Amino acid sequence: MEGRLDLDVRNEHEVRGQPAAADTSCPFHADRAGMQQAECKTLVLTGASRGIGHATAKLFSDAGWRIISCARQPFDGARCPWEAGATDHVQVDLSDHRMLPYALTKIKERLAGTPVHALINNAGVSPKTPTGTRLTSLTTSVETWMKVFHLNLVAPILLAQGLFDELKAASGSIVNVTSIAGSRVHPFAGSAYATSKAALACLTREMAHDYAPHGIRVNAIAPGEIKTDILSPDTEARLLPTIPLRRVGTPDEVARVIFFLCSDAASYVTGTEVPINGGQHL
Ligand SMILES: NC(=O)c1ccc[n+]([C@@H]2O[C@H](COP(=O)([O-])OP(=O)(O)OC[C@H]3O[C@@H](n4cnc5c(N)ncnc54)[C@H](OP(=O)(O)O)[C@@H]3O)[C@@H](O)[C@H]2O)c1
Repeated sequence: MEGRLDLDVRNEHEVRGQPAAADTSCPFHADRAGMQQAECKTLVLTGASRGIGHATAKLFSDAGWRIISCARQPFDGARCPWEAGATDHVQVDLSDHRMLPYALTKIKERLAGTPVHALINNAGVSPKTPTGTRLTSLTTSVETWMKVFHLNLVAPILLAQGLFDELKAASGSIVNVTSIAGSRVHPFAGSAYATSKAALACLTREMAHDYAPHGIRVNAIAPGEIKTDILSPDTEARLLPTIPLRRVGTPDEVARVIFFLCSDAASYVTGTEVPINGGQHL
């Protein structure tokens, strides 16, 4: 479980000891004011139980959003303290495309006709060999290729298609979580993972084009090395010298960029892939 976020979007002015009403320059201010007057915004998020997804759910929940989550594990109230988390959790394996209709039915039951303001396709898998080394294009089995592509690429396509009406109703936005491995060979991420993320980056461009006439923005974030369960044990030792900021990132630092992309502050941003990697891509 990640530690508590140090950015409380609703209360950031109070945290600094300033009156909230006095500052209208904060890019999140409009969201906050609007949130109090309008209905609660709804986020559909895959992979909320750990890592980047957990930090993202926590940040959006702190900002007053309702979170509908999807993952294989049941909801864990002790680790995920957002409101209505258990009833708004859909337990499903998204690496099986035959489960997507089930997932969409369960999500829509919970929505009950209400709009979706953001869809975040965050769940992802990066399989390694039994000894933790990378699975290359010579050594990856067809089962692994299929599983990785179903979760990392097909699930985002089908969830976005299935929630199109609900996203359109909210002029919502989609964020796809890609990876630095989608644009360069990575010492730990395998070939199936890297190509699925490159395809997801391309899909983001295609979707941004196709969804824009309907008022839906589509962007991607491409994390570098973020401290979660997905990292290999040797990541910090091997890769810190290649990261200009000389540290790995935290899930909170990724969540804040996702939040920006889903906010009105990013209302003219679509079709982009934002690197979050301490300069590793330089
Ligand atoms: N951490 C990094 O350095 C890094 C770098 C680049 C990109 N990313 C990307 O960021 C995203 C989140 O990664 P993370 O580091 O936070 O990983 P993580 O800690 O391993 O979390 C992965 C999440 O995805 C869910 N998930 C995994 N397989 C699933 C399946 N078959 N069906 C439904 N849900 C599934 C997991 O929940 P359950 O286990 O309950 O299913 C979990 O909540 C991924 O797309 C990853 O590729 C991460």
